[in-house]
Amino acid sequence: MPTSPIRLAVFVSGEGTNLENIIRHFAPSPTVEVALVVSNRPEAKALERARNHGIPTETVGRTMLNEEESAVMGLLDGIDYIILAGFLLRIPPYLITAFPRRIINIHPSLLPKFGGKGMYGRYVHEAVCAAGEKESGITIHFVTEGLDEGAPIAQFSTPLSPGNETPDSIAAKIHDLEQAHFPEVIARVATSHRKG
Ligand code: GAR
Repeated sequence: MPTSPIRLAVFVSGEGTNLENIIRHFAPSPTVEVALVVSNRPEAKALERARNHGIPTETVGRTMLNEEESAVMGLLDGIDYIILAGFLLRIPPYLITAFPRRIINIHPSLLPKFGGKGMYGRYVHEAVCAAGEKESGITIHFVTEGLDEGAPIAQFSTPLSPGNETPDSIAAKIHDLEQAHFPEVIARVATSHRKG
């Protein structure tokens, strides 16, 4: 008997290159669907990308996210997984409780290195560069209340040449890893749950 697709809500704050990749990856899929895109920033390029693909969007600012639980839960009615793809607000406890092991974040470093407060996007690559690291990478993990502390699902690394790297060169390598791996890891988690 056919079952309904697993429905993802993707939370974004900025450019949305991961979102674009996720949308394209699942567009032909009968089992996983990007059902909603949520941003805290109405001007985020990511929202434009979602609209271009005909995917419903919502803007949820910091105050609404933290103080309007029933309204936010209403928007997420029927959603199976929340995917954080460059979403820069903390996820409030009520959402973590409502979606246990069903909120997945991508972080642009090999956690626990270069995680925590203030470590996002370009700041991560600047810190990795300044530390002269020999490698960096991405961590895809479940979201818990501790910032960047949830159980890792997968990590992928890339070698760096300390002294020859810039934040931009590191960002490009991380971007490639994100594009190569994030959708496939989301698919693995979402479909394994369905089977189990
Ligand atoms: C990505 O590199 C993602 O790993 C990072 O923000 C970027 C979003 O890019 N996330 C974090 O730093 C979370 N702490 P995108 O908007 O082009 O997908």
